[in-house]
Amino acid sequence: MATTKLFVTDISSSVDYLPSKFIRQEFDRPNLHEVQSEKESIPLIDLQDDHRDIIKRIGQACEFDGFFQVKNHGIPERLINNMIRISKEYFGLPESERLKNYSNDPSKSVRLSTSFNVKTEKVANWRDFLRLHCYPLEDYVNEWPSNPPSFREDVAEYCTSMRGLALRLLESISESLGLNKDYINKALHKQAQHMAINYYPPCPQPELTYGLPVHTDPNLITILLQDDVPGLQVLRNGKWIAVNPMPGTFIVNIGDQIEVLSNGRYKSVKHRAVVNCNRERISVPTFYCPSPDSMIQPAEELIDDEHHAVYRGFTYGDYYQKFWNRGLATENCLDMFKASTA
Ligand code: OGA
Ligand code: NI
Repeated sequence: MATTKLFVTDISSSVDYLPSKFIRQEFDRPNLHEVQSEKESIPLIDLQDDHRDIIKRIGQACEFDGFFQVKNHGIPERLINNMIRISKEYFGLPESERLKNYSNDPSKSVRLSTSFNVKTEKVANWRDFLRLHCYPLEDYVNEWPSNPPSFREDVAEYCTSMRGLALRLLESISESLGLNKDYINKALHKQAQHMAINYYPPCPQPELTYGLPVHTDPNLITILLQDDVPGLQVLRNGKWIAVNPMPGTFIVNIGDQIEVLSNGRYKSVKHRAVVNCNRERISVPTFYCPSPDSMIQPAEELIDDEHHAVYRGFTYGDYYQKFWNRGLATENCLDMFKASTA
């Protein structure tokens, strides 16, 4: 069935079969029956444990998994529930209201879009997303949607609180690398924080498409809040593992910039989101980032005669532009910044 609707939010309820623009070629499908589902798929770290234990476990998780979950993280449950609620309300608004925020330009600081990058991709993904820049808050909050009425207030409170958690995790990651605990925070200059609200409606044929195809995150670290519907999968030893929702926890993953700062010791691991036929799914990643003018390079303390710099220096602005323009499915963005290609 042909459809002229822009957002999957609106397509979802009007189709019995997946429209052709979402259908992946056979070699590129999620093979859902091959995905492993374990109880503790990635390490679970209690942030109220002994400080030295936390540093050790975070270091191990960053080195071997690229992903971990945190509990007892100090973010109030009220903020988390409000964030999920307001996300559902936003995507429940009439199409005409949502269209006011639409843009396909990845450089915009507030935009609602669909798929990943509609300008560069050939096959569409079963996802709509609202992306917001959120630090410094006062520079951006007045551009955010003002409908639902409490949107700005709820989201501002959430992302301010998440910034505290991100900075704390970055200190622990610095320490786990044997660096001063403020090493990474200093390397970021003014810093930046973005967030997305991903909305994955029920999909008539989930085995033929993705919510978000395989990728690594271009930023430093991502802290993901997901509702109670599974969909996130991470790659481990060539196999896809489902990271099923665990109430009260956040999922943390290392992005490309930590891989560079750690000179390849910590891994920015591939992951993807799949969809299902029954239930809508919301996920809310907080992307903690260097500011665009930050110079990113492997930490000098980690370079010696035996450990040559794997990556060359670059500004985060350059990296970020390459990330969006190259299209998700093609080359790993990090490979374009290897020292040998300088
Ligand atoms: C992302 C991402 C996973 C999810 O937005 O970068 O990986 O479960 N999301 O939505
Ligand atoms: Ni991601």
